[in-house]
Amino acid sequence: MKELIIKNEQETRLFALDLAKKLEKGSLVALSGDLGTGKTALTKYIAEGLGVTETVTSPTFTIIQEYRSGRLPLYHFDVYRVNDEEELFEIGYEEYFYGDGVCVVEWADLIDELIPEDALRIHIEYGKAPEERIYTCSF
Ligand SMILES: Nc1ncnc2c1ncn2[C@@H]1O[C@H](COP(=O)(O)OP(=O)(O)OP(=O)(O)O)[C@@H](O)[C@H]1O
Ligand SMILES: [Mg+2]
Repeated sequence: MKELIIKNEQETRLFALDLAKKLEKGSLVALSGDLGTGKTALTKYIAEGLGVTETVTSPTFTIIQEYRSGRLPLYHFDVYRVNDEEELFEIGYEEYFYGDGVCVVEWADLIDELIPEDALRIHIEYGKAPEERIYTCSF
């Protein structure tokens, strides 16, 4: 586990752009952390790094949003409102998790049993200053 201090949103963006370069087909980024810590913001910057030109919006009510304009397809999940694993089986999550693109999953800790062993896990916590965040990364 690696701990990183992110001072402001600009540093979140730089972290995400760098991470996006390393992502490949089948990569899964598993995000956890309290409300408002910046999971969606981080995902937007990963999308930017992948070259996604569409506007990235929070998929809270749809579970998943797909973006196909980048270097690789991006599947953005938000499982906050998923009540049981059955809902994920119904949308065919395995096709995405083990598929042709990159998955980013917000609230991944809620479906821990379904997250692949080799996922890139990032846990985000609030820091001392308003824009400060502490990232704990599995990679
Ligand atoms: N260092 C930072 N990194 C990311 N976002 C930041 C940072 N500092 C401040 N912010 C702001 O914090 C907010 C994060 O909101 P965001 O929707 O990304 O959080 P979230 O973790 O996805 O929340 P939710 O749990 O509701 O999905 C944004 O308004 C963003 O501008
Ligand atoms: Mg969010």
